[in-house]
Amino acid sequence: LFFNPATIVRCIPALFSGWLLSLAVVAISFPLAIPLGLLWSFMRMAKHRVPRAIGATYINIVRGTPLFLQLYIAFFGLPQMGINITPFAVGAIVLILNSSAYLAEIFRAGIQSISKGQFEASRSLGMNGVQTMFFVIIPQTVRRVIPTMTSEFILMYKDTALLSAVGVTELMMRAKVITATTGDITPYIVAAGFYLIVTIPMTKFINSMESRMGRGRKR
Ligand code: ARG
Repeated sequence: LFFNPATIVRCIPALFSGWLLSLAVVAISFPLAIPLGLLWSFMRMAKHRVPRAIGATYINIVRGTPLFLQLYIAFFGLPQMGINITPFAVGAIVLILNSSAYLAEIFRAGIQSISKGQFEASRSLGMNGVQTMFFVIIPQTVRRVIPTMTSEFILMYKDTALLSAVGVTELMMRAKVITATTGDITPYIVAAGFYLIVTIPMTKFINSMESRMGRGRKR
């Protein structure tokens, strides 16, 4: 066997505390990435070409480079700029900045999937652009983007493993430390289980939500 059943129980306490830190990272980062993602998507769709260019550039640069590289640039770059913050804070900030670019495109797709008639009807009721957005378009968009947002959440949760490379003592790091000292890879197998505790129910949620929406469409 490539893993040792006797190690399973012994490594659980350390991995559990790492898991809590992984959960803390996403619990902080994901909610903060949402408003930032909305901002980028509005800029990306703006009538004026300056905000549109800024939004598009940000989204393209962030989505076009590896998250791992972005993490290294922040981790080694911030101290050189005189900014000294904890690895946890660096990790959270990079995840927020990264995810906001992906969320921006999710929001844009959701908003652009609302039929043009909705915009025209709102305008004919005397609503201005902002009112149309907040009272008519966004409420309809929310339901449509929940499945894709949930998969974005899953991605961010799994991407917290990269923070082990900059010293955040999250789940992956805990497993790495035990394996490095014992040579026994069992902690990695247990860590996989901890990741799956979150990802499997969330995937099921996405699937059930999508099949419900699909049913609505067919009727
Ligand atoms: N592994 C990819 C990267 O390194 C994932 C980035 C995050 N992807 C996402 N949809 N949030 O760039």
